[in-house]
Amino acid sequence: MEQLFGVQCVDHPLVQHKLTLMRDIHCSTRSFRELMNEIGTLLCYEVTRDLPMELRAITTPLAEMRAPVIAGKKLVFAPILRAGVGFLDGMLRLVPSARVAHIGLYRDPVTLGAIEYYFKAPQDIADRLVIVMDPMLATGNSAVAAIDRLKEVGAKDIRFVSLLAAPEGIAHLQGQHPEVKIWTAAIEDRLNDHGYIVPGLGDAGDRMFGTK
Ligand code: URA
Repeated sequence: MEQLFGVQCVDHPLVQHKLTLMRDIHCSTRSFRELMNEIGTLLCYEVTRDLPMELRAITTPLAEMRAPVIAGKKLVFAPILRAGVGFLDGMLRLVPSARVAHIGLYRDPVTLGAIEYYFKAPQDIADRLVIVMDPMLATGNSAVAAIDRLKEVGAKDIRFVSLLAAPEGIAHLQGQHPEVKIWTAAIEDRLNDHGYIVPGLGDAGDRMFGTK
């Protein structure tokens, strides 16, 4: 894994290959959705790589031993609706007992500001590691608003996972929430005048759900 601008860039060949298939304008809705899920699983593997471990006494068929298990810390997956949902099943495949917080935000098409329309998070969020997910870190407005809101309800330990990240979004998120570490599959060139990531992959929600 590469570190660029303080961001964990997941350059694993499987991730990069699947991402290229998704970027292609000819990728079908079905394939796009499946690939998003698969990359969700692979990014989940990376974002949980340094979870604290402890030793547990167990008995194998041959001997007693102390073997490593993940220590105490429980997870919350927090997809930003709607595109963030694309990662969710893939991540739950690896951590099926994780709780889920839903954060409904849409982008005002003129100001590009994030407007909240739904928020529901587990009560014990303060005791959990929260992994916020949105495939596209573009302006960073949604990411910042989601994390502001999660902190308001007590979240303290937060990580952010995206598929693509624009330099503008990284700078905005790091400026507002410097302690939140970011994982992404690629850092892109720039945003266009409509706040879309270039070269990017278009509108992730529309491509995933076939709404355009
Ligand atoms: N959201 C998307 O779906 N695509 C972009 O390029 C930027 C934000």
